[in-house]
Amino acid sequence: MKQRIVIGNWKMNTTAEEAVLLVEELKKQAEYVELDVELGVCPPMPWLLALNEILDETEIGVGVQDAEPGDFGAQTGSVSIKMIAEHAEYVIIGHSERRSTGQDNDESINAKVKSALENSLTPVVCVGEFTHLYEKKRVRGRPTKLEEISNIFKQLQQAIKGVAEKDIPKLVVAYEPVWAIGTGKPASPEYAAEIIDRLRTVLKRASKRKLANEARILYGGSVTASNAKSYAELEEIDGVLVGGASLKASEFMKIAAAFSRQ
Ligand code: 13P
Repeated sequence: MKQRIVIGNWKMNTTAEEAVLLVEELKKQAEYVELDVELGVCPPMPWLLALNEILDETEIGVGVQDAEPGDFGAQTGSVSIKMIAEHAEYVIIGHSERRSTGQDNDESINAKVKSALENSLTPVVCVGEFTHLYEKKRVRGRPTKLEEISNIFKQLQQAIKGVAEKDIPKLVVAYEPVWAIGTGKPASPEYAAEIIDRLRTVLKRASKRKLANEARILYGGSVTASNAKSYAELEEIDGVLVGGASLKASEFMKIAAAFSRQ
């Protein structure tokens, strides 16, 4: 059975000192409990090396919230996936907060996914619809064909274009409906599970069924310690990508515990 995964996306939060305190606390709390769940945190880039050192020899992995594809070059202000590869395990790619500002598009996201895989990093590919329309249409009856090819699925198709079949199991996909991010209004677990199921169909079209089943597909958007269990109860949901609630160690660890198989 594949291991579930809980990742914290700290976004543009924490001072250097707060970041250290937060991971020290996570480390301490993780020592008390044995959890059967993969855990990762994605702090702001400048804290990466220090936090990676603190978390060395723990089960908690560190990642970044974005990085450029490729190795080195004349790109002022950029950090490449190659540069961070030795110091990180995950790279979040195509978060809606970057897509919506034009910092990322289908093409750049696809290049980043491939670069992450080439550098042995786990890409955490974010997809999700911007409006609530999909859910509204859905309640009227069976989803139409038009809905099936809606943006969410296209985003994933484009993100994994040209990815080798053997690499499909290495993907982590995060379904994050934009209307649920930071709003305190999460998607219902059933709705999230249904979309995740169809996202898996996209992966199945790109590889063998068995390989597609090995990839982990997460939900993200207003996940808290109090609602985590309701997502964990659904087998389709392989974990969560957590924003605000990942900034408090005890809250984050409770979410992790909800997804632990032990
Ligand atoms: P919140 O958990 O704060 O809603 O953010 C979700 C998110 O964007 C994670 O990437």
